[in-house]
Amino acid sequence: MLVLGIESSCDETAAAVLEEAAGETQPRVLSSVISTQIPLHRMYGGVIPELASRNHSVNLPVVLREALDKAGKQVQDIDAVASTAGPGLVAALLVGNTAAKALALAAGKPFVAINHLEGHMLSPFITRPGGLVPHLGLVVSGGHTLFIDVQDVCRYSLLGRSRDDAAGEAFDKVAKMLDLPYPGGPEIDRRADRGDPARFKFPRPMMHEPHLDFSFSGLKTAVLYTLPKLVASGNPHDLPEQTLCDLCAGVRQAIIDVLIHKAMKALKRSRHRILAVSGGVSCNSALRRQLAEACDRARVELVLPPNSLTTDNAAMIAYAGLLRARAGMFSPLETPVDPNLKLAGVPTRA
Ligand code: KG4
Ligand code: ZN
Repeated sequence: MLVLGIESSCDETAAAVLEEAAGETQPRVLSSVISTQIPLHRMYGGVIPELASRNHSVNLPVVLREALDKAGKQVQDIDAVASTAGPGLVAALLVGNTAAKALALAAGKPFVAINHLEGHMLSPFITRPGGLVPHLGLVVSGGHTLFIDVQDVCRYSLLGRSRDDAAGEAFDKVAKMLDLPYPGGPEIDRRADRGDPARFKFPRPMMHEPHLDFSFSGLKTAVLYTLPKLVASGNPHDLPEQTLCDLCAGVRQAIIDVLIHKAMKALKRSRHRILAVSGGVSCNSALRRQLAEACDRARVELVLPPNSLTTDNAAMIAYAGLLRARAGMFSPLETPVDPNLKLAGVPTRA
């Protein structure tokens, strides 16, 4: 089966072609093309929705052509077209979604509407030999931090979520406070590698509470109160480079400690022996390393997507589409986009 995936929920325009040979459980990513708008939105310190949708309209035809050419396929060869239906920016979602529906209609092939978070959540299994199995999913993206019990495709139940900021959002907001470029996660990650994580002991909210929810909003407040103690001006540009790196390392470690501690708790609670971690934050180098160590100690299988499939991409949308198509779960062309599309009963937001 050959699936074309399209993603345009935020600031990446992406298209991918996945192929699964008959009788196999692992697909081949024939192409995964991503055109990022990050440099454009960086000028404004965050994503400007109107600019995002305008640029998706310009970029998508080029990205689509490239994805098909790289895969060596024509639209007629495709068996199903999958696209993100939400959550995300409504006008951005509409660009990819409308294109996907038009292609499906023109080629007479089925359409599959995919939840962006479902795409992230299943993405670690694209490259796992043996494919999707029941597991504990931890999605850590810019908008969401969720624990999901995954039994099979479309059999998801929510175990925990952030009550305020998502982990990626905490990285982005702290970075903004330090006047580092958008998006903040990679900027903090890079500096944290040169910093001392023990110099600043930031709070680890809800880490020891019995439930599986998170709270990351206190982290930005802690950094806000720490800054004027380090430089009278409160201006992050007056910080010595080493202090900035130490702050970044402290923030990164606080987030990692909470994620790993809670993941171990959620594994025990759910009785799963497989942990899959996905979303933009899952490309954090220290998180990946420390997760691997914790899972090794707990004798748990850790499944991570390759770095190239952690942030927004269309291979994850094509993969979720492939799993749904395999199970005969297609979507009518009337399926609307939904900026707050729910996953496992979780109200989500852009
Ligand atoms: O999954 P994603 O591309 O978009 C959403 O669906 O939200 O995630 C983007 C998030 C941003 O908050 C970004 O700062 C974060 O992922 N991120 C990172 C790293 N790379 C991206 N966070 C920590 N360390 C990184 N290396
Ligand atoms: Zn995403």
